[in-house]
Amino acid sequence: MEHSDRQIDIVVPESVPRFCQWLRSPVVQGPEGLWINDYPVIEVWEKPLMERLGMIVAGSGDRTVLEIGFGLGWSADAIARRGCRHHVIIEAHPIIAFQAREWAGRQKHPTTILEGFWQEIVPTLSGRFDGILFDTCPLDESERDRWHYPFLPLAWDLLESGGIFTYYSNESDAFRAEHCDLLNRYFPAIDLLRVDGLHPSHGCCYWREDHMVVPVIRKPDWWWRDMRIGYGDSMGCATWIARSRSKRPG
Ligand SMILES: C[S@@+](CC[C@H](N)C(=O)[O-])C[C@H]1O[C@@H](n2cnc3c(N)ncnc32)[C@H](O)[C@@H]1O
Repeated sequence: MEHSDRQIDIVVPESVPRFCQWLRSPVVQGPEGLWINDYPVIEVWEKPLMERLGMIVAGSGDRTVLEIGFGLGWSADAIARRGCRHHVIIEAHPIIAFQAREWAGRQKHPTTILEGFWQEIVPTLSGRFDGILFDTCPLDESERDRWHYPFLPLAWDLLESGGIFTYYSNESDAFRAEHCDLLNRYFPAIDLLRVDGLHPSHGCCYWREDHMVVPVIRKPDWWWRDMRIGYGDSMGCATWIARSRSKRPG
């Protein structure tokens, strides 16, 4: 399996105009969803997907969960319903972070809201997590379809042994090649979960399918840090990546 040589850089937010602009962007919320800077961040049809992702990372309700991107709190609600030992939420937009803090104040389980971009907060985290849910959004056109890629190289080391990581994949059956390369490079094994029953509105500009296929990545209980070295392509993910590539149009 060949890897793309394209570099996945983690930018330093404070010096990048799109991050500065985002912090000042107006927020519009309603029953149909959330818009920031006139861009649809989450729409109501995504609620079942959010709940599913939340349930996956919450597991049986005794985990320490890291959630990145609060949005309308649908996945956070799902995590709270399952229960949680500690729920850490990173949220960049000041208005949404304020709402996240209000939400946290109503929860029974310990909850910590870290306001800021994950790019600056994640490197400061010292602990590991039993569940990680990554669901942010592109801040501008340059990030469209690839805003989640820079997080993938970091996820494994943030996971506790026995932990589980999932995210809004933005993929249906045939994953983008760059996405496959990253999964193949950074994770030894990946399950794919197809979430059906999605009904995006006719006007939705970022999703048209009735399903989404999300990677669910488990770090085995017996895993220790250096195991990854030397794993290469021999594990199961190469198989499905090859399969999904072979289905790519063209
Ligand atoms: C799609 S919404 C999250 C939806 C949420 N899972 C739910 O169930 O409602 C994305 C959120 O990520 C936040 N966000 C975007 N980029 C971010 C970044 N770099 N770091 C932290 N939060 C970010 C946005 O402000 C927004 O609240």
